[in-house]
Amino acid sequence: MRMFLLIYIFSLLGIFFSIQNKSMDQSIEDGSMIYDDFCIQCHGPLGKGLTKNIPPLDSSDFLLNIGKSISIIKYGSKGPIIVNNKKYNGNSMISQGLDDEEISDVLNYIKNKWSNSDKSQITVKDVNNIKNPI
Ligand code: HEC
Repeated sequence: MRMFLLIYIFSLLGIFFSIQNKSMDQSIEDGSMIYDDFCIQCHGPLGKGLTKNIPPLDSSDFLLNIGKSISIIKYGSKGPIIVNNKKYNGNSMISQGLDDEEISDVLNYIKNKWSNSDKSQITVKDVNNIKNPI
């Protein structure tokens, strides 16, 4: 009987934690792995971008627009876009095929990496709310 009670309590705890939103720290940690797998080859380990066609993520004013930032990771972009008053139009960024949770994680990571610091957490719901390219 006591065993059943324990199993019952643990399953309730499991349900409770699975419906909780992921913490910001956890999201940033998961996002760092996604960055290393999907973004680093173009945007670089220091987020400085590459050549003249790949824009920086470090100190990028583009990241201040959350809707557009979600959209570009979700749907890609073939320019032209303006980042820190500079026009980029030479390369396109294709959608990396990430799901909504992965997109929120990688955004929370890049918004708080290098000299970037923005503790307002992007949630899976924020990503889900963007249904079309902006
Ligand atoms: C194949 C190279 C490539 C990969 C991989 C790539 N990007 Fe990009 N990214 C670009 C290019 C090129 C642009 C500019 C797009 C344009 O000119 O329309 C861009 C633009 C952006 C922008 C908006 C501009 C800025 O600098 O703030 C963000 C945000 C961004 N990328 C994030 C990411 C994230 C996050 C990943 C990984 C999930 C990623 N990118 C993967 C090439 C890439």
